Amino acid sequence: MKIFLICGARPNFMKIAPLLFELKKFPDKFSPVIIHTGQHYDFELSRAFFQDLELPEPDIYLGVGSGTHGLQTGKIIIELEKVILKYRPDLIIVVGDVNSTLAGAIVASKLLIPLVHVEAGLRSFDRTMPEEINRTVTDILSDYLFTTEEAGNKNLLREGIGENKIYFCGDIMIDALIKNRDKAKNSRILKDLGLPKKEYAILTLHRPSNVDSKNSFSNILNALKEIGKRIKIVFPIHPRTTKMAKKFNLSLNIDGLILTKPLSYLDFLCLEENCKFALSDSGSIQGETTFFNIPCLTLRNNTERPITIKMGTNKLVGNDKNKIIEESFKILDGKGKTGKIPPFWDGRTAKRIVKVFLEKS
Ligand code: UD1
Repeated sequence: MKIFLICGARPNFMKIAPLLFELKKFPDKFSPVIIHTGQHYDFELSRAFFQDLELPEPDIYLGVGSGTHGLQTGKIIIELEKVILKYRPDLIIVVGDVNSTLAGAIVASKLLIPLVHVEAGLRSFDRTMPEEINRTVTDILSDYLFTTEEAGNKNLLREGIGENKIYFCGDIMIDALIKNRDKAKNSRILKDLGLPKKEYAILTLHRPSNVDSKNSFSNILNALKEIGKRIKIVFPIHPRTTKMAKKFNLSLNIDGLILTKPLSYLDFLCLEENCKFALSDSGSIQGETTFFNIPCLTLRNNTERPITIKMGTNKLVGNDKNKIIEESFKILDGKGKTGKIPPFWDGRTAKRIVKVFLEKS
């Protein structure tokens, strides 16, 4: 079976790595090919992740780059179609919910190539988020839907997806985390930033709903001014966030805030495992902090990963200044949320997925 693994943006890479390594254990059955769309092209957002995850160079690089959603998704569709027509894979795997995921799903289904979605069924029920559109459409088109949590199964069944297509397999991102956790312990990042364990918080911020509106962005920065008086906050800043801060003329020069460029996978894991708490609008960080049992305040009003609230350490705080400060101070006063690791978040998700392909092959 020739299997195409499509990736393009930072949160894709840690999801394809465990799959690639598992598929490679069966060379007589599977021949996996990595297609990188080029949605993310900066060293820090792309190549650094390939290095840390020990991924080989992509077999095919489409180099589409940035643009509006239509332009970016359209370019990926055009370039990917050419490659798929040329090589005719037997199976196409897309992961997560970025524009590269959606484009891969559209091309695969139009060319009648069986489509696999890993991390299927997640729903924030918020169509203002581009990721929600990407995941909903991808799921409708998929032939194999691998879910990370029970809510995902329920969402898919409610949307009329056949039960025979749904496989509850756990979170693939946790496979990568477990595999790389020890290596991350050797990271120099804490030394380089002069941070003792548990004496700092981490922040990631790049969602359009937070940084594309001056009002939301400045609410969050005003909260950071208060939190920064009590604890250092490490802020690896996404290019989109830098761009928007400049556009709105908002200063990121805040006491207690330590700005860094986007960090590599291992450096970030090291910072995450040893921090006091996380402030973030990312999807992945809600899951990773739940695994590490570290409190996470999610700078959004909803989540597509409800298990991280129900079982894990996650709390939604939106971009309300007072709520962000209040919940951060609770953690600093020793009243942070603790949780449990959700079912199947055990490092064996790629094995469960590949077992399904082995049974079908
Ligand atoms: C994308 C995903 C988002 C994910 C995030 C992780 C979609 C719709 N969004 O958002 O779900 O959480 O990746 O990072 O797919 N840019 C660079 N260098 C790059 C890539 C982008 O400077 O290598 C800048 C460009 O100005 C670009 C902007 O960042 O316009 C946004 O990039 P884009 O890929 O459109 O979305 P992200 O915000 O990164």
